[in-house]
Amino acid sequence: MSALQPPAQRIWWNQPVERAELMWIGIALVWCLIMFFMMPFWHVFGNQNYSGEAYRTTPEQFSAKVEEMVEQYTVRHETARNYPVVQPPAGSDIYLLARLWEWYPILELKAGETYRLNMSSMDWQHGLSIQPININSQVLPGYQKVLTITPTEPGEYALVCNEYCGVLHHAMLGKIYVTE
Ligand code: CUA
Repeated sequence: MSALQPPAQRIWWNQPVERAELMWIGIALVWCLIMFFMMPFWHVFGNQNYSGEAYRTTPEQFSAKVEEMVEQYTVRHETARNYPVVQPPAGSDIYLLARLWEWYPILELKAGETYRLNMSSMDWQHGLSIQPININSQVLPGYQKVLTITPTEPGEYALVCNEYCGVLHHAMLGKIYVTE
């Protein structure tokens, strides 16, 4: 029987399964299970696959929180587009907003301090990628994603959008500063 023709036996599901086929089903099943259990394993022992929290929100609610933080803690402005650089207090909830095509605002954090990084999108799906440390997270409208982070190395980190979001997707860049 060839895969291109209809089965010779109309009741094909009663035919015995070939040994080779059973072997492949077995291999595929074992591989599925290995991949499945790698997720919790790597979360616990590999220090990866961080667990975040997620809450319902709306663009209006979320941008109000962002504006509140920007108003209270802006220390200077930067870049040609006059972005606020915000220095929120250590241990606080900090807000990062994604929209076509920017990350807003610029955050300035202290090394060794822990923050709750809240993220949401104003329009559609974006992906936050923090480089060069390679932290990745989906950023969706209607959801407020929270990652608890403790930056350890002072420096300048680039925020890249890694979810295709339109013509200026490649220009959707942001920044986080970590100071001593
Ligand atoms: Cu935002 Cu791609």
